[in-house]
Amino acid sequence: MTQTRTRALLRVDGEDHELDLDHRTSLLDALREHLGLTGSKKGCDRGQCGACTVLLDGRRVNSCLLLAVAVQGREVTTVEGLADGERLHPVQEAFVACDALQCGYCTPGQVVSAVAVQQEARDGWPSAVTEDLTATEVLLDDVEVRERMAGNLCRCGAYTGIVPAVLGSLR
Ligand code: FES
Ligand code: FES
Repeated sequence: MTQTRTRALLRVDGEDHELDLDHRTSLLDALREHLGLTGSKKGCDRGQCGACTVLLDGRRVNSCLLLAVAVQGREVTTVEGLADGERLHPVQEAFVACDALQCGYCTPGQVVSAVAVQQEARDGWPSAVTEDLTATEVLLDDVEVRERMAGNLCRCGAYTGIVPAVLGSLR
């Protein structure tokens, strides 16, 4: 008989979890349905909205597009894992301070994406609007942030506070 399940070892927010998973389980479903980490949202389930964004080895990914069994041995960070105990991540604090909060579906993905955007800029990764492709660090401005956050969509357009929050929490 064909084997359809795998005993998978996932590392999420610094903790190891052994799960019995159908091979087809997405990382998003593993997080939400098996680990109870419901911060990552299922907006479209097809890679279009960014509501499911998590970090994989520090780089942002759409967790609805990845198979859970394929990320074994990698470090997954969810929105739940960003805060340090009771202390919010600076990006989370900035979202609150700038009133950048969107609905419960969009906000977690935006926050995780924003954390990754800041790191990408620090690492010198260019975006489609970066002029100096040789820079070792990209200076984030309004245009850079808008471009880099373009993968996180909402239906109501409540984006106003996002750019100030991302820029205001740069360290
Ligand atoms: S739920 Fe993954 S991109 Fe929309
Ligand atoms: S803020 Fe979530 S749909 Fe607009």
